[in-house]
Amino acid sequence: MKKLLVASLLSAATGLQVFAQSEVAVSINGVDPKYTISRHIYGHFSEHLGRCIYDGFWVGDSLNVPKQDRIRMDIVDALKRIQIPNLRWPGGCFADEYHWRDGIGPRMQRPTMVNTNWGGVTEDNSFGTHEFLELCGLLKCEPYISANVGSGTVEEMAKWVEYLNFGGISPMTNLRKQNGRAEPWKVSFWGVGNESWGCGGNMTAERYADEYKRYATYARDYEGTRLKKIACGPSDGNYNWTEVMMKNVGRQMWGLSLHYYTIPTGNWGKKGSATAFDEQEYFNTMKNCLQMEEFVSRHSAIMDRYDINKNVALVVDEWGIWTDVEPGTNPGFLYQQNSLRDALIAGTTLNIFNNHADRVKMANLAQTINVLQALILTQKEKMLLTPTYYVFDLFKVHQDAKLLPVSFTSPGYTSGDKKIPALNMSASKDSTGKVHITLVNIDPENKWKISTSLMGVKFSTVTGQILTSSRLTDINTFDGPPKVKNSNFSGAKKQGDQLVVEIPAQSIVMLELK
Ligand code: AHR
Repeated sequence: MKKLLVASLLSAATGLQVFAQSEVAVSINGVDPKYTISRHIYGHFSEHLGRCIYDGFWVGDSLNVPKQDRIRMDIVDALKRIQIPNLRWPGGCFADEYHWRDGIGPRMQRPTMVNTNWGGVTEDNSFGTHEFLELCGLLKCEPYISANVGSGTVEEMAKWVEYLNFGGISPMTNLRKQNGRAEPWKVSFWGVGNESWGCGGNMTAERYADEYKRYATYARDYEGTRLKKIACGPSDGNYNWTEVMMKNVGRQMWGLSLHYYTIPTGNWGKKGSATAFDEQEYFNTMKNCLQMEEFVSRHSAIMDRYDINKNVALVVDEWGIWTDVEPGTNPGFLYQQNSLRDALIAGTTLNIFNNHADRVKMANLAQTINVLQALILTQKEKMLLTPTYYVFDLFKVHQDAKLLPVSFTSPGYTSGDKKIPALNMSASKDSTGKVHITLVNIDPENKWKISTSLMGVKFSTVTGQILTSSRLTDINTFDGPPKVKNSNFSGAKKQGDQLVVEIPAQSIVMLELK
């Protein structure tokens, strides 16, 4: 598995190919960059699921941590440091059972509800519309609300939009004012249902396309806020769903969502452990992760046929690794640890999104705290930043920067007769002229020497940061300092006009050229 240089061709993470080689030649085109990497690619997702909202963002009065109302401020500060651009809420599957009016008004008077999707727990609705928008205000990020199509009504959705966005005189405005908020919030990212082919109503694509148009018609644009309506899209390789939506709905949506989760074993019944895996399982996990390239490319190609000017965004609003839950935890809470493997998945996926910035305008990792591929884990007062968090810290430099196309031929990472690209990368130029390159080497054994020529880019210094650790299974724990975290990288230098980088095995590197 760990031998290099087997000559053959394979589809690669960046749409490139794998050949035999000892040194990797990369070229970056800095001349007239065309597309912007939307900061919203770096979005996050917070569902009423397990300990993401309750006992995550929203904690009990008695918990001894800095709080504003019941919002945990150490978490807010950590997410602000990575410039979280948007937060999706309240689901997920939960969204299609959520009735927003149960989550407004005096908290003691709100009805309880059973979270039938996730663990069957009873929630007190103390975290609702006002609390979510207060959280987004503290995070300085844009809210992305997914509204109920599956078990809700058109009227319920229409009234929610009025409650959120209308500034004039109306029953919903009065209600909002009674509940303590005078000004509209101006929410623009608006999800019309979630996974409507499954937990959101088990519909066919044709049926959903019609339902989308009915709901979307009455989700109005009020003065000062144009809704960016995001339709439920396909999961994985359901290309028929995309075809039908583009044909029947097309420009009536701002975005079409795509969900894809990396399952280590590829088997939903026994997904694999978050922390105990061997190299074979690691290889399979990375192979599954790299399928994102194929899904994004093929869904985009369908969208291109109907929308040549790329007006409709592909919104990958659920992605990440999904493993078995940690032993002893509630299976409905989806609590999993987070290792260096997760970081390599995050870096690889974000590079894929960056390189598809022409079509992918938004994405949301599932999920922010204590659920699936989390950025943050908490244990009572303690909290830790996962390896995945550190990837978002490295990659934040790409937010709203111009994508610089990269071309190279990746060496292969092989397992038996299977081979996947060892390297993936993306590059951008920010508004101050700095160029950033993020490189991921998923090969656990081999380092690579990379010689890069940069067209149209002048630089005199290169600095960098690296995320790596000695084992793929390394994690951060609640006791002691983080083991997997960013540190300074000195393996890149300018040689003539070239940039030469030695990227270590199993690492993620961010370079800044000035
Ligand atoms: O993120 C967990 C769940 O995965 C979401 O609720 C659902 O949309 C998806 O199936």
